[in-house]
Formats: sequence, structure tokens, C-alpha cells
Amino acid sequence: MAKEKIVLAYSGGLDTSVAIKWIQDHYGYDVIACGIDLGEDKDPEALRIKAEQIGAIKAIMINGKAELAEDYILPSLKGNALYEGKYPLSTAIGRPLIVKKLVEVAHQEGAIGIAHGCTGKGNDQVRIEVCIRALDPSLKILGVIRDWGMSREEEIAYADKNNIPIPVKKDNPFSIDANIWGRACEAGVLEDAWVEAPEEAYTMTTPIENTPDQAEYLEIEFREGRPVSLNGEPMDLVSLIESLNEVGGKHGVGRIDHIENRLVGIKSREIYENPAALILINAHKELEFLTQPRVVSEFKTIIDQRLTNLIYDGLWFSPLFTALEAFINDTQKVVSGKIRIKLHKGTHMVVGRQSENSLYSEQLATYTEDDSFDHQAATGFIKLWGLSTEVFAQIHKKS
Ligand code: ARG
Repeated sequence: MAKEKIVLAYSGGLDTSVAIKWIQDHYGYDVIACGIDLGEDKDPEALRIKAEQIGAIKAIMINGKAELAEDYILPSLKGNALYEGKYPLSTAIGRPLIVKKLVEVAHQEGAIGIAHGCTGKGNDQVRIEVCIRALDPSLKILGVIRDWGMSREEEIAYADKNNIPIPVKKDNPFSIDANIWGRACEAGVLEDAWVEAPEEAYTMTTPIENTPDQAEYLEIEFREGRPVSLNGEPMDLVSLIESLNEVGGKHGVGRIDHIENRLVGIKSREIYENPAALILINAHKELEFLTQPRVVSEFKTIIDQRLTNLIYDGLWFSPLFTALEAFINDTQKVVSGKIRIKLHKGTHMVVGRQSENSLYSEQLATYTEDDSFDHQAATGFIKLWGLSTEVFAQIHKKS
């Protein structure tokens, strides 16, 4: 009888390589390894060959960059998503897409479930498993690393015994997750929250000491909340993001060092690099301020915040997400125009903006004789605006 099949989320690293063999040994399933490249630019052919050599009955490599940009980065950009005001969710937005692909492969291959290599103390196990259950609750889920309980040494011994190639640098000092929206780096020396992250923790950004002395200006154009061109050159989303990572990184833009509240209750010290994400969110927010009335901007901040936490908490595929997204998309109809940004020594400051939907009126704002604002109307407005405060003050002055 043919064995049951399981789809393994495969990164090509030691853990998921060992998992191919371990799943066969301990569960007797046939393993289909599935690698999804969201911008790490690994060699798919080398990964495929490696997975099959270790014993996967099949290895499938998928390039998900364009879909990540279109269906996951764009909605979070429109929602200005920055978890705890700092982290652009680069890892978090990749998880629902990875799951979507794994579920598709499971269906296509007639597999009974999905295996992943997340640890038992992170957010990603939650995201991956909740997303699987949202898309197909009938699939079995295996959290391999959580289950096997091997120490690092035991894992390496197991790999040795089974001829599983061990990376030359046995202990990469960090745990990394990267895609085109940014890079997360944890563990090793970073666990001491007092110690400054060493330069080796960063790969996308130049240290400020070595960035150009000359500032560089960028012009980013948006249509309905979507960035469409850079410095006058129309670009697809992936190219635009990659270009901004490049130029932002050159100016040291995008480094984040903070203590983050994980969903599972732990606080963790995180080092991120998100040049394009931070520049785009900054530019997008500024264009919203130019084109949306105050009440919309104010209310949208609350919706953005809720969306952000929903993404962080693994609830991308949920009814609340869809509803918030509908609100956000409606607010984007006016968000078209250009933003001018100055990059210099790690900063990305908006220095200019223009839009056909601009609500900024120079005639209303000016202090020159072109002023069209009705100064007399201000007197009556202030009187009524302050009335309840005034009444309260009068009553309580007595006592
Ligand atoms: N803490 C971040 C998140 O939960 C990033 C985790 C990244 N994973 C890693 N292996 N560095 O979204």
C-alpha cells in the first residue's frame, strides 16, 4: 500500500533537512518538500536536489515574491502596519502566503497534512497553524521541531548518521528570517538586551559611519495607495521595493533594535532591517495626511492598528481582516500623488508632497495678503467650542 504523504515547509537549512528523514522514521509518511522563496534568493535547483537526496519523494520550489508584494505587502502598506509602532511585520506577512502555497501543494499532491519547522516558543508556529486551519481544517499538522525534542548536538549526530549535509558554519550565531519586505535577526549575542548588536547582525544596511555624506532625494508616486513609480520611472511592486531596499540600505535607513511582545507571552530582543518598508510607510502615511480629511485620518489610525495586530497574531485569514481591509481600501481612493523623500545618515524624511487630491490650500494657510480664511468666523467658533469647558470651570470655581 502506498504511504500517506505530508508536505514539509522546507527552507534548505539543517532543521528542515533533518525533518525530511525524521518524519519518515517516526511517522512513516512520504515527504514532499516545498520551498517558497519570498526574496532570500536561494538557488531553487540546489534546494530541490538536496531535499530529494535526503529522501523527499518530491521537492517543489515556488517563487512567491510577486504574490507577496501584491497580496500581502500592499494591504499592510495601505494599513501603515508597524507592530508596536516599530516593526513592519516582514516575517508575519510571509506566513499566510507560505501556508496558502503549502495547502495548494497538499491538495495537488493528495497529502494528508503539512509539517513545519517552527520552534515551540515563537509567533510563527501560531501563524502557520492558524492559517492552515483557516484554509483547510481537515489537514493534519506536524510541528516537527517542537515534537522531536532533540538538542542541537543530538540533531547534528542524527544528521551525521543519516548522511544529511550539515552547513559548513555549524553554528550561525543568529536565527534569520528574510524576504523582500525585510529581515529579522534574533538569538546569540542579541539575547543580551544591553549589548549593541554587532555589525554581523546586519546585511541589508550600511553602518551610519560609512554612509555617504551627500544626501539623496527620492520621488515616489502612488496611485490609490499603491506605489507605482520611483524617480519618475514606472516600476512593478517587487522592483520598486528591491530598489528602495538598495538605496535605503546604502544610506543606513531601516535598522530597528527593540524589545517586542510576542503573542505567546515572551518579550524578545529583535534586530530588523526594513529599508523599503519604512520608507514606503512613511511616504504613504504622508500622502494620506495630504489627501484625507482629519476625521478619516484619525479613525483610520485605529483601524490600521487593529489590522497590524491581527497580522502579527496570525489572523490574516479571518473575517475581521477582510472587513478592515474593505474599510482601508475605500480610504485609498484619494491617495494618489507624489512624495519627495530625503535619505541621509539613516534618516528618511519627507520633504515634499503633491497630489491632484490635495486638501492643502495655500490660500487658506497663507499669512500673506492672499489669505482667504474667514478670521471673523473664528471668534464664534471658539466661543461655542469652549462653551462646555467654560461652564464647567464656572461651576467648580465656587466650591
Ligand atoms: N519576531 C518576529 C515575528 O514574530 C520575527 C521572527 C523571525 N524569525 C526568525 N527566525 N528570526 O514576526
